[in-house]
Amino acid sequence: MPYREQIPIDKGLDNSLAMLSEGYLYISNRRKRFGRDIFETRVLGGQKAICIAGEEAAEVFYDESKFMRNGVAPKRVRQTLFGEKAIQTMDDANHKHRKQLFMSLMTEKRLQDCVEIFKKEGLSAIDKWENKDEVILYDEMIKILTVTACKWAGVPLNQNGVNVRAGQLEALFDSAAAVGPRHWKGRQARNALEWWLQKIIDDVRSGKLKIPEETALHQMAWYRDSDGILLNAHVTAVEVLNIIRPIVAISVYIVFIALALFENPNEKEKFVNAEADGYEMFIQEVRRYYPFFPFATARVRDDFLWKGHDFKKGNLVLLDIYGTNHHPDLWDNPDQFNPERFLDREENPYDFIPQGGGDYGKGHRCPGEWLTVEIMKASLDLLVNHMDYDIPKQELRYSMTRMPSLPKSRFIMNQVKKI
Ligand code: HEM
Repeated sequence: MPYREQIPIDKGLDNSLAMLSEGYLYISNRRKRFGRDIFETRVLGGQKAICIAGEEAAEVFYDESKFMRNGVAPKRVRQTLFGEKAIQTMDDANHKHRKQLFMSLMTEKRLQDCVEIFKKEGLSAIDKWENKDEVILYDEMIKILTVTACKWAGVPLNQNGVNVRAGQLEALFDSAAAVGPRHWKGRQARNALEWWLQKIIDDVRSGKLKIPEETALHQMAWYRDSDGILLNAHVTAVEVLNIIRPIVAISVYIVFIALALFENPNEKEKFVNAEADGYEMFIQEVRRYYPFFPFATARVRDDFLWKGHDFKKGNLVLLDIYGTNHHPDLWDNPDQFNPERFLDREENPYDFIPQGGGDYGKGHRCPGEWLTVEIMKASLDLLVNHMDYDIPKQELRYSMTRMPSLPKSRFIMNQVKKI
């Protein structure tokens, strides 16, 4: 008879309120209290859910034979962050086929193209910042990355449209975990963006708009699924947004880079005129240390036994992303910011999972992870080698319950000088 045991239960008919009020720490708080990396709860409308954390948990979670994604993402997330019929909700052969499309956009050459566009936009923005009394880094980065993402993806965007599209793209990822007006803003933004992109996709298909073959827009407009059928314009728009929205979301990490430099002034010295490779440890520590994605969700495909617990077909499972990146078995002093911890650290697809874990091609790990790291390195270079700035008194604390989290002031700089 295989070993079985009762896992701890977070009692209550629906603990969604506790989850909202404890945010990124909801799972970690209970793991600490129960002394276990697995427990049962009820969330998202009273559904039974198993919360898991740690390296072994990530390994089992990213075993595609055990978990699936179809029907997992709540409607409010599909209406804002993901869109309907997006890759995030797919499984098996259809998912792998679509994932190949995303991964094919991430060649070294294309990553470099994106970084070049970003650097150019960043440098010309610094020129303008010199004449401003103050600059809110987050707001500026949203605009710079909107222009970068559209240029890179082949999506036409005229200068007058930048502010509107930037605001809408930001609303998509700012609204997913929100309730009330913030959530509605995200839904309206999705409708407007999908409408805008569908017309552009029609123009690409009719030959009215000619764009380079290597761009995401071109590749997605002409992508055929595993049955050889073109995606309809709506799903194509959803997937083009799955490229440009998360590029804009890198703004959140860039603000955390600026905060990390401010909070760890000794680190800054190391990057002045350093080779780009030297930036990697710092960037990885920013992605580990600061909160962004709280957890990933999936449903059990078929009954299986793990760690003495019966996972039943259909059970909802939450993998604690933030908690795994702060797990004391995996990281010494996890609540200290220490880039050196990445020195000679062996790569492991299951212990450092800010953008998901496992295999890119087979599973749901983020296809934009390399692009994120490269844009973050270029941002670090801009901040330390291409500008001087002062940081006036402001509220730099960030919330552990707002998702995504961000320093309250969104990082204000003044006296900006190009160097
Ligand atoms: C801003 C920083 C980013 C963070 C924190 C992030 C995080 C994540 C996470 C946690 C997942 C889900 C993993 C899972 O479900 O198991 C994911 C999936 C995904 N990400 Fe990212 N990501 C970022 C940037 C990007 C970029 C730059 C792109 C594209 C250019 C991108 C495109 C995607 C797509 C398409 C998926 C769905 C993959 C699938 O379902 O197979 N992300 N990301």
